[in-house]
Amino acid sequence: VWITYVATDGSESRVDVRSGDSLMMGAILNNVRGIDGECGGCLSCATCHVYVEPEWAQRLPEPDSMEIELLEGVMAERRPSSRLSCQISVTAELDGMQVLLPESQA
Ligand code: FES
Repeated sequence: VWITYVATDGSESRVDVRSGDSLMMGAILNNVRGIDGECGGCLSCATCHVYVEPEWAQRLPEPDSMEIELLEGVMAERRPSSRLSCQISVTAELDGMQVLLPESQA
């Protein structure tokens, strides 16, 4: 599943993420910089913050209450499009998706 991670400087990393992996894992496994994922995806660090634009966000399940709570603690600006990438599971439906990386994670 092709996912493009876009850094704040506009540089793009287009990588092939295994279906079933999280967006966070996809970045880590492909050496995409800009997502730390310190807690390994157990929803305690908020260093996997990304921005998902509405056209893609509408294809995702809504964030659960734990994710919403943790989003309060992100380092970079929190926007309506803010999500934690460890909570987004990659599916074939997301092929071609773009996610924006925040300025910083920590
Ligand atoms: Fe820690 Fe997502 S990787 S909350």
